[in-house]
Amino acid sequence: MTQLSPARSSFHPAVESDEWWRSAVIYQVYPRSFADADGDGIGDLPGITAKLPYLRDLGVDAVWISPFYPSPQSDAGYDVSDYCDVDPLFGTLADVEALVSRAHDLGLRVIVDLVPNHTSDRHEWFQRALAAPPNSPERDWYIFRDADPADPERTPNNWESVFGGPAWSKTPDGQWYLHLFDSSQPDLNWENPRVREAFKGVLRFWLDRGVDGFRVDVAHGLVKAAGLPDIDRTTEELQGEGMTTSAAPFWDQDGVHEIYLSWRAVLDEYPEDRVMVAEAWVEPYERIARYVRQGEFHQAFNFSFLEAPWDAAVLRECIEESFRANDLVGAPTTWVLSNHDVIRPATRLALAPEHFTSQLGAPVPAPNPELGARRARAATTAMLALPGSAYLYQGEELGLVEVLDLAEETRQDPTFHRTNGERLGRDGCRVPMPWQRDAPAYGFSESGAAWLPQPTLYGDLAVDQQEGEDGSPLELVRTLLALRRERALGTGSFDFVDLAAAAEARAGADNKASAGSGIVAFDVTTAAGTTRVVLNLGPQAWPIPADARILAASDPSVTDSVPTDCAVWLAIA
Ligand code: NOJ
Repeated sequence: MTQLSPARSSFHPAVESDEWWRSAVIYQVYPRSFADADGDGIGDLPGITAKLPYLRDLGVDAVWISPFYPSPQSDAGYDVSDYCDVDPLFGTLADVEALVSRAHDLGLRVIVDLVPNHTSDRHEWFQRALAAPPNSPERDWYIFRDADPADPERTPNNWESVFGGPAWSKTPDGQWYLHLFDSSQPDLNWENPRVREAFKGVLRFWLDRGVDGFRVDVAHGLVKAAGLPDIDRTTEELQGEGMTTSAAPFWDQDGVHEIYLSWRAVLDEYPEDRVMVAEAWVEPYERIARYVRQGEFHQAFNFSFLEAPWDAAVLRECIEESFRANDLVGAPTTWVLSNHDVIRPATRLALAPEHFTSQLGAPVPAPNPELGARRARAATTAMLALPGSAYLYQGEELGLVEVLDLAEETRQDPTFHRTNGERLGRDGCRVPMPWQRDAPAYGFSESGAAWLPQPTLYGDLAVDQQEGEDGSPLELVRTLLALRRERALGTGSFDFVDLAAAAEARAGADNKASAGSGIVAFDVTTAAGTTRVVLNLGPQAWPIPADARILAASDPSVTDSVPTDCAVWLAIA
């Protein structure tokens, strides 16, 4: 039962609900890089299970595990060749069952990844399609098109792969097939009712094994505009690379929603709250909120928050618009700073404005590491106080940085290879986790093997270097999560606080432009009281009022003021 608080005077009202996902902190595990139990240099399911107590102690509520299904690993497992099994690289079905059962014993929920937009080209559905003639029912599982006899080398339309290069490849018999990602990831044809039925079976397969939900990959891409029209590159919104816009004929088509309504009905057949979270790179806020309307997804990742530059006005607007759009449909807002596709925040947030981006394209000059560490801590501190659900990506709690200088021959992201190295891609945020400074592969694997090389800095940031160390990023996150739970911040009401006016008055007329304008401040109120959060992105320190008690601070040296690039939680009487 969910109820919005009757006192509706807050900008975002408190939520009274026993639905765990409305306020959960969810930790993303990227299996190949988390913990390697069998020594082959690639993390695995038994490795994850062994580390579950670490996650319980960190204080998260759930774990989302990126794909571990059979796969040729052309896109690190997002190229699935069997949705209902486990790749031997990662373990067995029995290992999944052991993981889920151990997680549940520890009070953690488990979300698995579902990749419905495309399969691997090794999937038996695609193999069957290739073996069948053009225009056969087998080919109708995917998006095949005849070549133009007058110009057989011309692709059926001008769409490009997200990873670079054309979105079409040819079969040996001369037909084209569509792949919005790598050529080894053919797009399924979601107009085909058989595809729809097959995926309901996949959902049930994992729900029957006790998983608590699904993170749905490319949720905005399943349905393509009828007739597969060319992209109109004269449209301003379609000139950039990201194309997170409904104007693209392959993103955010209205037809996707009936698929999710049907999936939700499947989830709702099961006891306990089983959830779906949408990976949908869609703008603006109102469009993404359509995915979390009644009867569809429970949550959608808030990528606008993740992509926001270090700018108080942008962050404020993002928080405001996120709540506004999600509250209208009764869905929790999610807060996310990091995942396996984007530059780690401890690097990203210190990039010079002219290089600021969330996805690594051309090499960028390495930013100041102290600045990055400081801003990442401040961002996490502010994020974990926000009502709704928050995501942490493995290593974010350690302040891991993006590894920018991976040697070319070690890079594995298809983006790197499909663009001939022009776009560096995502390997730098996927480097294996450091657990112990003085152990082989920093404790990732007893054999010392690691599928991507770890920089020596990772040794200093290892879990065993931070555990019990006052003020370390790890202890900060533990403290924040314990307080978040104790004060029930995830379900609290939210209001912005205008500290700028007071700061301007203090700074005097000459200094009006900068004073206080770089502060994002808000109150979160629950039965435990009001928690005031002050995030300072501006140039001047903000003095903490004498009657406020510091609950937590991103900078451990804070006593009486909040310096630049710092966030604090204050108890307000
Ligand atoms: C989004 C996933 O997060 C990313 O890692 C993957 O490459 C693409 N979808 C394609 O599945």
